[in-house]
Amino acid sequence: MSVTRSVVRGTGSYLPARKMNNRDFEGILETSDEWIQQRTGIRNRHIAAEGETTVSMAEAAARRALDAAGLQPGDIDLIVLATATPDNTFPASAVQLQQRLGITHGFAFDLQAVCSGFVYAVTTADLYLKSGMARRALVIGSETFSRILDWEDRSTCVLFGDGAGALVLEVAEGEGTLADRGVLVSHLRSDGTHHEKLYVDGGPSSTGTVGKLRMEGREVFKHAVGMITDVIEDSFSELGIGPNDIDWFVPHQANRRIIDASAKKLGIAPEKVVTTVQDHGNTSAASIPLALDTAVRDGRVKRGDVVVLEAMGGGFTWGAVVVRW
Ligand code: UT7
Repeated sequence: MSVTRSVVRGTGSYLPARKMNNRDFEGILETSDEWIQQRTGIRNRHIAAEGETTVSMAEAAARRALDAAGLQPGDIDLIVLATATPDNTFPASAVQLQQRLGITHGFAFDLQAVCSGFVYAVTTADLYLKSGMARRALVIGSETFSRILDWEDRSTCVLFGDGAGALVLEVAEGEGTLADRGVLVSHLRSDGTHHEKLYVDGGPSSTGTVGKLRMEGREVFKHAVGMITDVIEDSFSELGIGPNDIDWFVPHQANRRIIDASAKKLGIAPEKVVTTVQDHGNTSAASIPLALDTAVRDGRVKRGDVVVLEAMGGGFTWGAVVVRW
């Protein structure tokens, strides 16, 4: 049976030039390089310069993904931009990106699922491509969390960074088997009973302000590993595969301890885990495509590999996507 698949054509990413390491916090907050590394694995994060925004970083990542795919902006007829930090309340940052890329056909929209934004966006684009509504999609995660952090709150401001990552998905015909290239399965979940554990304390309809990020870190941590492993086990059982059948595990990069504990619980070998949290911190929706682009460009992720993406974050939202590269 022939089925439509969404195949990855290329990846790209962008990080602001300004790096901030753990020691840079030591003079301004009661914290230490040792505490941050031990509790999170983070050593560095990148911080957007004045004038650098979610849209400008998305554009840089998108152009690199298009180059890698050997495509022009005009070849794209769908943009799904995952972000919790848009340039404006409206219109969507995705349409501003569309304008910067010179695309005037097709359609573009933002998707808001915080740290799970990228797995939600890949799943959404996959469904549009499978439905025939679009043929080639730019799927992007871009975030400027530095602008919604409370820089006096040591329990949150040391954790996050800015950046963007993108991939190009294109329709292709597959056999409907595990051997097909493209998105093989997705599982998305949310549970709003946890919405106050990780949120921003402002918004257009509540306070009329942008607000700052607030998190009960320990509470998020408590749920993370169970939620992540549940959706991956569901994905594995739907495909009839196990941890030994996958080549790469590319998780949301929030905390090294969460990544390691999830891989261990799932039985995924440590050498299959792509970890970039040490260099980027938590870049929310941008973290998975940033990690993916790193592993594609350094030659780890190759055509034909089975790659598992997963994320968990504010909402709570969580999900997993399995892709054959
Ligand atoms: O991407 C969305 C998903 N988000 C996450 O996955 C984040 C999940 N949570 C975490 O990663 C961890 O919970 C944190 C890294 C945020 C915190 O690690 P923890 O091991 O859960 O520490 P804790 O919150 O239990 O805090 C331990 C202690 C506290 O002091 P007391 O109450 O024990 O005296 C904190 O006040 O560490 C203190 N603390 C700090 N100390 C030095 C909190 N932040 C800092 C800091 N430097 N930056």
